[in-house]
Order: sequence, then structure tokens, then C-alpha cells
Amino acid sequence: MIHTQPGGWILETDRTAYALGLNAAGLLTHRYWGERLPYPEDYPEAVNPGAWGPFNNPSHLTPEEFPGYSDMKYIEPCLKVTFADGVRDVDLRFGGADSDSETLRVYLHDSVYPLHLTLEYRVHSAADLIERRATLTNAGDAPVRIERMLSALWHFPGAHWRLTYLTGRWFDETHVRREALQEGVKVLESRRLTSGHHFQPYFALDRGQTTEDHGDVWYGLLEWSGSWKLTAEVSNFHQTRVGIGLNDWDFAWRLNPGDAFTTPAAIAGFTRRGFGAASRNLHNFVRDSVLPHPPDVHKVFYNSWEATLFDVEAESQYALAVTAARMGCELFMLDDGWYHERFNQDSGLGDWWPDARKFPDGLEVFISRVNALGMDFGLWIEPENVNPDSDLYRAHPDWVIHFPTRERRLGRSALTLNLGRVDVQEYLIESLDRLLAAYNIACVKWDMNRNISEAGWPDAPGEPQELWVRYVHGLYRVWDTLRERHPQVIFHSCSGGGGRSDLGMLRRADLIWISDNSAASSRLAIQDGYLHMFPACTMQTWVTDQQQELPLEFRFHAAMTGILGVGADIRRWSENDIQTATACIARYKTIRPLVQSGDCYRLHPADDRGFSALQFVSKDRGEAVLFAFRTHTAQHEPSLRLRLCGLDSESRYTVEGFPGVRSGAAWMNLDLEFGKYGGLHNFESTIRRIQRVETPAGPDVVDHILITEQGE
Ligand code: DGJ
Repeated sequence: MIHTQPGGWILETDRTAYALGLNAAGLLTHRYWGERLPYPEDYPEAVNPGAWGPFNNPSHLTPEEFPGYSDMKYIEPCLKVTFADGVRDVDLRFGGADSDSETLRVYLHDSVYPLHLTLEYRVHSAADLIERRATLTNAGDAPVRIERMLSALWHFPGAHWRLTYLTGRWFDETHVRREALQEGVKVLESRRLTSGHHFQPYFALDRGQTTEDHGDVWYGLLEWSGSWKLTAEVSNFHQTRVGIGLNDWDFAWRLNPGDAFTTPAAIAGFTRRGFGAASRNLHNFVRDSVLPHPPDVHKVFYNSWEATLFDVEAESQYALAVTAARMGCELFMLDDGWYHERFNQDSGLGDWWPDARKFPDGLEVFISRVNALGMDFGLWIEPENVNPDSDLYRAHPDWVIHFPTRERRLGRSALTLNLGRVDVQEYLIESLDRLLAAYNIACVKWDMNRNISEAGWPDAPGEPQELWVRYVHGLYRVWDTLRERHPQVIFHSCSGGGGRSDLGMLRRADLIWISDNSAASSRLAIQDGYLHMFPACTMQTWVTDQQQELPLEFRFHAAMTGILGVGADIRRWSENDIQTATACIARYKTIRPLVQSGDCYRLHPADDRGFSALQFVSKDRGEAVLFAFRTHTAQHEPSLRLRLCGLDSESRYTVEGFPGVRSGAAWMNLDLEFGKYGGLHNFESTIRRIQRVETPAGPDVVDHILITEQGE
């Protein structure tokens, strides 16, 4: 809901509010962001700071919604442009606004030049989120050069904030970090052309005491799959702001007369109920408003990459498929190595037709054999990159990103096609469309295995630095066209594991392969970080042959907290292992509606003290499932205890393996203790079903403080 006041607006979600308005100087100013208040007059007026001595002008002190680089302000601006006559600042004035119940548009313009800025605010009531984007339009007759244009600046009152972010590297993504913000600017970014393994375009701010279940937290994401930047700034006047949007590193955009440029969307929200609630809000939003397909139950898949690498041929793949089907897998994914001349990483990339030597009877015959085993078929592609040793590159060496005078550096033996070019987009649409039309492909894994170098675009239509954005627009165009033509196909997104795990991808791909690291003990922490942003129904998790020293059941349990897949060389598994796998997959099928559509509670973070626990609760709170993992026990570690979350206090539940029927309130206030002497042992894990029972609660429901597991 949006309320309009004289010179101001209040955006209300179910539980929160965000207020902005014009101050006496006519600047569009942030007023409030937090819990929703009862009356419109409860919200503060726009502030009118005075100057602080000769060196600090009011404009430096005003919390502007979208500050341009101008005046005497030295904070991080949202917009920086150069006009055709060389003027390099932008002086934004209010020009009007309109709104409906969900969207507010505020119109600003430069005080001298015909340059118009529209700030759009969209309310997602049920998810308690605000979505923002900005559009700049050149209404003049000379081009304007954009040098920085963020999507949003989010304001926080005062200093003393703690920033939570996600960081890592290839094979070790999305670790949770928390640190106090001090005066200055903390920058998180990607300059890699993908959103990257290093940081995620995600933030959460709290006052330092917020926990998983309690306390205020403000959090947000950027919907973009290319280079991006986040600046968390504490000014010298203790004003805290987070700017988020396109990276201005090496960026420029020529805005020609009559043209408009729109930023990616920034999404943010507030909750009083801790980091867990913040994640659940994002999860609901992603499930309800972002994913391409309704969050139906995803299939258990088998992926042959780690079993055969590039050594793909029909019979060995079929042998894997037979065992996968026997174990209960429902989809067979043929990974890298199936296409023309792809015998190792040095050749073939770009030539998207099956290799005749690997599939002598044709891919079609192979797919029907897989289908006859009762499995759907999925296919891996990496459309954005090309090997110099490929028909595509030999025909179009000019199609790759490059500087003509520089060596073309290879990443994983490949160069990157310039998806900013329309001819490259057309080629990819045409060749991939042909593939999807020719074969019965239920699912596509779209991979991207290198980062950019020599970011050149000879003969670019505008500024060569537009590459950073035009590439991603081109990528989205190719992907969206394929989705439009083949709406039933489920896409998986991957970039050497989690190198492109972002909201922009989730608009197109239902699933993300979040890391090449499937060693269960490290994977739990990677998954934990990923779940801060996105729901388990998007999180692909495979059991592979990594960390074979751990019990197979533990490895399965870790993978069962997402979209379960198997990626091991199951031809070599013992009959015992196959039986364990079959049992785990069968069990997963009984709990996957909870994992994939339920509310996720991180009961114990995986990075902390060698123990990790997660719980998924159905939306009607009628049932739940608990996962607990012991990754490392110090010798005299006390036994492992945890409390359940998310149950209905008044209803009565049973918890598998624990005695009694107790109220939800009881299960959420009593410690469950796993074992008497040190809890689960190293690399043991357990899954417990929690079920609502209909019998009325008796008077003696809560009788023990500590509930000890039966039989231990
Ligand atoms: C990187 C991916 O993360 C792997 O799963 C696999 O698909 C390889 N690429 C194939 O080249």
C-alpha cells in the first residue's frame, strides 16, 4: 500500500514501512524504514540539516534517496554523468510523482539540462520487501555519458552498524561474515562479468545484537548477473548508507538523445525477527515472485560429470543411467563432453551438436533409452564460451571479447563470446533452439567457466565500456527467448559451481549448482550461507565421491537439505552403497515437499563448533523435518542439544525418536539432546520427522527440561 502525503510518500508492506519525502530544500530525502507504524503522521518529516562549519554543506548531510554527484557532497553518489559540453555534475530536482497501490514513481530532472530520472519503488507486501530501480532518459539533442548509476541507496540511522555479507572463492563459496562498520567505505563487488564466487550482491545490517531468531535486521539483494558493487558507508557525520547496483569500474554508457537506461532492481526488507526471518522473507519472495516455474517438487537427478569427466560415450553413460534409475533417480543429466569434438577441455566448446563418435546411434536413441528407464533427460551446455579449437571460433574469431592488439588470454582453454553483439545472440538462440527442438530435453544445465580478461569490444555501437551491461542484457535475451520457446524446460544455472548465484539467474533458472565442492563437511557451511539468500528449492546438492572417508549416509543427509542429486561414479559403488543410496533417495522423496516448499530454520550454523542443524516446517505448520550433523567433536564436548522452531505453540506434535506428544511450545522451549555421552559422533547425522497429532493437550505435557533420545 502506498500513502501520499503533501510532499511525501509512505510505502507499507504487511509489517514494515518505508517513508520518503521532499525537504525544505526540495531534495528527495529518506525519512524512515522499519516497523510499520499505526498512523501516517507517526512518520518523521524529511530532515533539513544545516551546514556544519565551512567544510560540510547541508547537501553532504542530507540523506538523499538518490544523490547525484554535485554540490559539496562527498558521500558515495548514485549517479555521475558527463554532459556533451563537458559539465560533469548532475543537479537533481523534484518534478512530480505518481503511484498506484503497489508502485510509486518519483520524477526528477536536472536543473539545467533535459535529463530525466525516474525512481521506481515497488511494494511486495506479503514478503515485506521494497523493490527499487532507476531510469535515466535523455530528452535533449546531445548524448550524455553515464559513468555511475546505482540501483538504490538504502539509509540507516546513526553509526554502530554491523554488516553481514557472504564471501568465498571457487570451491568454497558463500561463507557468512559479520563485521562492525566504521567510518569510511566498505566495498563488496564483482569485476568479473559474472556476479562471482568472491562476494554475493547481498547484505544485512543490524545493530550488533541480532541473532538468528531475534532482533532487527535490514537486508537486501541486487537482481543482476554481471559485475556489481555494494558500498557500505559510514560518513564523518555517522550516517550509514548502503549503495548497490552496477559496478562503475571501467563502466560508461552513451545515452543518446531520446534513449533511456534502466538499472537492475534492488530488493530490500526489514524484520524484527532476526536473520532467519530475513532469509525466510527472501525465500518466500523468490518462490512466489521470481522463479520461472511454480515451486513444484524437483526430481532427484543423476549427473555424470564427476564419474566420466570428458570421457563421455553412449554405453558408459547408459551403464550409469541404469544404476541411477535403480537407486531411484528421476532425471539423468549428461554433463560436459557430449558434443562435437569435445574430448578434453581444449576443443569443441561452441559447436553445439552431438559428437557422432560418442553417440554413433544418435543422441535421440540415447535419450529414449534413458526415458525407457523411467528418467527424464537433461543436457549440459556452456553457450557463452568458445574454444579456439572449434568450428565456431574458426568461422568467427571476431566474436569474442578482446582488444585487437592484445593476446587473447585463455581461461579453462576458452575465450568468452561477446554476448553484447546481436549477431552472437542470434547465433546462440538459433543453435540452442535447434537443440531443444530436436531432442526430448527436460532440463538444461547452463554453465559459465571463466572470468573476463581483455574487456575490449572493437566497433562497439556506443562506449566500449558498455560491454559490462550489454553482455548481461544479451545473456538475458538469449535465455529468455529460449525459455519463451521451450517453457517446459527447467534450467539449472552454474558457473564453475557458485560463480553466478544471483537473483537475475533465478528469474531464468529454477536451480543453481552452488559449488563444485560437494565434500559434505565443507558443503554444509556453503549451503548455510547460500540459504541466507535463496530457498532450498533452488539449491542443487549432489552426493559425489568427494570425501569418501565420511559415511555415505552423512553425505546423503547433507545433500537432502536441498535438491538431491547424485554425481558419483556409481558403477564402482558396492551393492551396500547402492542399498544405502536407494534407502536415502526413498526417504528424501517422503520429505522433499517440506525441504523444497517449507520454511527453513537454521537451528545451528554450520561454521560454528562442528555441529550443524536445519529444520524445514510446512507452511501450515502441520509437519516438519529436522536435520542434524556432527562435523567435528572436540574431546570433552558436551552433548549436542537444540531447540525446534517454527511450530504452532498450541498444537501437539511428535518428534521421531523422542518420547512423548508435546505442544509446539514445549518442543520449542525444551532442549532435544542427541545422545548422553557427547551427542552424535564425528560425521554422524540424523533426520527426524516432526508431526502434528490431533489429540488434545493434557495437563502434564511439559514434564522434562531435557529430553534424551531413546535407546542411547
Ligand atoms: C563446472 C561445473 O561446476 C561442473 O559441475 C561441470 O559441469 C563442469 N563445469 C563441466 O565442464
